[in-house]
Amino acid sequence: MTNRRPIVAGNWKMNGLRGSKAEIEALIAALSARPANACDVVIAPPFTLVADFSSTCASSPVEIAGQDCSALAPGAHTGDVAASMLADAGATAVIVGHSERRQDHRETDEDVNAKALAAYEAGLTTIICVGETEPERDRGATLDVVNGQLAGSLPDSADSSNTVVAYEPVWAIGTGRTPTADDVAKVHATMRETLVARFGDEVGNGFRLLYGGSVKPANAAELMGVADVDGALVGGASLKAVDFDGIIDAYR
Ligand code: 13P
Repeated sequence: MTNRRPIVAGNWKMNGLRGSKAEIEALIAALSARPANACDVVIAPPFTLVADFSSTCASSPVEIAGQDCSALAPGAHTGDVAASMLADAGATAVIVGHSERRQDHRETDEDVNAKALAAYEAGLTTIICVGETEPERDRGATLDVVNGQLAGSLPDSADSSNTVVAYEPVWAIGTGRTPTADDVAKVHATMRETLVARFGDEVGNGFRLLYGGSVKPANAAELMGVADVDGALVGGASLKAVDFDGIIDAYR
């Protein structure tokens, strides 16, 4: 029996100014007012806030992540941020392969795989995102798409100490729509089988599998209660401490 500690991670996307630190301080205050969480808590602010938020969170249960990293070592790559720079700024984790990166920047599974390797090299916990679009879902291709992304995006050296997988159906992101608990269960069970088939029992069962897409305080307990769901990757509802704390409540 594998004991997987859940993670509730917030992805701020392209939101947040220096003044948004008040939300981080409010989150830390809310967490410290309660008994220790039964989950890890991660916030991924934009790059501009990683160093400042990392200092603010230094002696708190909140860890800071990047939202992306370059696959390349530091050098002449204007506008890119190396994984080692995120680690230097105090991040302990990074999200790679988010559907918005796959769509807006045409990132492929190969790109995501290379970014994950760079993140491992920098010692960052790497949250690798997968998920089908609405047309893919409508033609019944969800499991094939997710399996294909897992196969291509996860390096062979992935294991539960360096990698977390987030299933985010693209049509559920920012739409207020979510799959049914049964649909989530089906995808997560398939991901688990696929990971066990590739990495073996011990490693495959060790990966934490997050669900993301319109997670809110009102639906968190149901979604987090699904078998093989080991936490959430939250967008909009992570921007306000009170909402994010309400989602963490699923693990209190
Ligand atoms: P929402 O929670 O806003 O739907 O976003 C989910 C997401 O994309 C997190 O990475």
